Amino acid sequence: MQGFPTRPEEIRTRSGECATSGWMLDPSLLHLNHGSFGAVPRVTREYQQALHNEMEASPVRWFLTVYGRLAAARRQIAVFLGTDPKYLALIPNASAGATVVMNAVHMRPGDNVIVTDHGYGAVVMGVKRHAAAHGATVTTVHIPLDADGGGAVARIRDAITDRTVAVVVDQISSATATLFPVADIVRAAHAEGVPVLVDGAHAPGLIAGDPASIGADWWIGNLHKFACAPRGSSVLVVRPDVAGELHPLIDSWNPAGPFPERFDVQGTLDYTGFLAAPRSFEYIADEFGWDAARDYMERLVEYGQWVIADAFGRATGEDHMVRLKSPPPAMRLIRLPGCLGRDRDSADALRLPILERCGAECAFTSFDGIGYIRISAHVYNTASDFERFAQICVPVLLTM
Ligand SMILES: Cc1ncc(COP(=O)(O)O)c(C=O)c1O
Repeated sequence: MQGFPTRPEEIRTRSGECATSGWMLDPSLLHLNHGSFGAVPRVTREYQQALHNEMEASPVRWFLTVYGRLAAARRQIAVFLGTDPKYLALIPNASAGATVVMNAVHMRPGDNVIVTDHGYGAVVMGVKRHAAAHGATVTTVHIPLDADGGGAVARIRDAITDRTVAVVVDQISSATATLFPVADIVRAAHAEGVPVLVDGAHAPGLIAGDPASIGADWWIGNLHKFACAPRGSSVLVVRPDVAGELHPLIDSWNPAGPFPERFDVQGTLDYTGFLAAPRSFEYIADEFGWDAARDYMERLVEYGQWVIADAFGRATGEDHMVRLKSPPPAMRLIRLPGCLGRDRDSADALRLPILERCGAECAFTSFDGIGYIRISAHVYNTASDFERFAQICVPVLLTM
């Protein structure tokens, strides 16, 4: 294949160690799926463990003092995201954020919510359940994989009617690893008077600057993906005028409190993920620098995509590269051969056999009847991970 990108040299810590030494990932496995569940650095795990020990040593002291510590963590998280802590609520995950928002959208029979066919399955299922409960409908806008940003905006705008009560759109889609022009989509929907929920699950750590500053009414982001925070740490960032309508999923001791403090009080819960999240931000900043880390991930997935597509292409004689108009940093698609993974269930069903037979943690997705491998990378990945995938996993996938 022509145009092969340069093989990236592995990124190292400030003291010259391999980046993998900072994580607890099983070295006998290939980890090519940071985008699904993230991975937590060793220093953050140790800090969270120390917090757990503190909680177990004196539960009363812990739960009487944790809310002050959460407020401090919220401020640090807001600094990392470049946003205002007054409008940032701590939530357990992006799915919870979508449910919080749907609970606040006033839907009447005949109203309509717009989603796209790139939307995250679980979020879209939740939107459909809410809509059905109110007699409202959901319109799924088809956006072709090769559409440009302007095409995506136009398709969503064209689907808006006078009954549309919300648009739900992904900043970086999961199944199709596409970066959407969410600021333009928000502007187009607002011009029609329609509020927008932007699902920025993948954005924290991946999008430089303030990923939430796109004017959306509601924006959700997972800290437990590319920002490498412990799982169960996510945020909901809102416009000041809608903050008053939003309530946490769990009603607890502060239901009448102001936004965002009422989201901090969620009963007896493990809050340590939020408290430990800033450790991960600092670790990546200190050891690699966030800009250098993002640049490395981008070059690595670009290289990995070519290596894997080339390996498939040599066997099938076909072109397996997926050239998107707007891929995000750190994630890429490669087309699977034949009918492999052509729908969500069969794509998902490839994960365990590939883990068991090849020792590789990967994501397989589908869109429009075609199956894909979605590779993602973080600083602990190296070019040889993708070369090993091409050597070990591609031949197995070709026989499935
Ligand atoms: C685009 C998108 N939205 C929402 C989610 C849901 O995230 P969580 O499982 O943390 O709720 C994901 C998870 O991968 C995602 O990729």
